[in-house]
Amino acid sequence: MKYKIAVIPGDGIGPEITTQAELVLARLGELFGHEFATTHVLAGGAAIDVFGEPLPDQTIEIAKESDAVLLGAVGGPKWDGMPGHLRPEAGLLKLRKSLNLYANLRPAILYDALKEACPLRADLVEGGLDILVMRELTGGIYFGEKGRREGPNGPEAYDVECYSEMEVERIARAAFEAARNRGRDKKVTSVDKNNVLESSRLWREVVIRVAAEYPDITLEHMFVDNAAMQLVRAPKQFDVILTSNIFGDILSDEASMVTGSIGMLPSASLSSAGMPGVYEPIHGSAPDIAGKDVANPIATILSLSMMMRHAFGLESEAATIDQAVKEVLEAGWRTGDIAKPGERTIGTKEMGRRIIDALKR
Ligand code: NAI
Ligand code: MG
Repeated sequence: MKYKIAVIPGDGIGPEITTQAELVLARLGELFGHEFATTHVLAGGAAIDVFGEPLPDQTIEIAKESDAVLLGAVGGPKWDGMPGHLRPEAGLLKLRKSLNLYANLRPAILYDALKEACPLRADLVEGGLDILVMRELTGGIYFGEKGRREGPNGPEAYDVECYSEMEVERIARAAFEAARNRGRDKKVTSVDKNNVLESSRLWREVVIRVAAEYPDITLEHMFVDNAAMQLVRAPKQFDVILTSNIFGDILSDEASMVTGSIGMLPSASLSSAGMPGVYEPIHGSAPDIAGKDVANPIATILSLSMMMRHAFGLESEAATIDQAVKEVLEAGWRTGDIAKPGERTIGTKEMGRRIIDALKR
């Protein structure tokens, strides 16, 4: 089979980590007899430098014609002075909106080999962790009406949180489906703030209604402040966390640290309307370590595994990547972010090469 993949290397460490992912992709194609045809396109700061805007139409068009998009990360101090709509990050928001990527899947898995990188007490994560954060990605306060105005006490600014029933319904359905397919605890924890926010009251009503279609899945509700606490107090209670754009942004970063390093966590952003998904690490462009061959490429390589599973339905190929990463970690290979003090580390390229060597059909 031939699969078309648009690759957006982006800025900072983006090009280094997507290069390793593309090498993994090429080897995987050889092993399983697939053609993964990649096309490089620009977004973020790299696009601003060439086109004067963070997401040129050409990038959107090529992305839409592809079966999936692989993204490194965008942004950096070079573009920090740009006005809001011209910042690299604005290109990402526009890409998510253009492709209607309303479901953001962020699995937070604590690997056995990295147990010591977890900042929590060992007994709290005994037996490992495997949490899926299902974050709504194209609605809520990040996309609501915003502005500045003169108020009674001088200048003020506002951002509006608004959710439609349709938006809540489709992300809730994605969460229940995921809970069913993961085959773990079959539990969805819907996180809101319905004691205070009207949008959360609607959120909860709709989630309860959708839950009726999934009698095999347990539904639990939790306030976001409590969820933040529970994630470090008793993280094993979670299977799928279903939540809004802003709450999910914060809780998924928290969940990532529980698993050791931000350099380990992949993500998939999906639509349902025949649009390609975007697969990317959850971290940013890490300008502090860019160009030094020290970035951890694993989050990006595991994003490929999510691509195999969600975009192409290639379960064995996904499992092959997951297994190779696990073996390399078990053999003790570490980039700086996941190493213990004083432990020997390897660079981005060597980590990529070791994972490629470990790929077995
Ligand atoms: P960041 O995630 O880039 O970096 C945070 C810390 O984690 C840094 O110390 C960095 O060195 C480290 N780190 C990140 N990825 C790593 C990896 N693969 N291996 C080893 N260490 C890693 O977040 P930060 O510093 O807040 O943002 C830097 C730039 O990235 C900003 O311009 C920001 O807007 C942008 N950004 C872009 C995102 C995206 O493209 N999806 C997401 C988050 C931030
Ligand atoms: Mg974030």
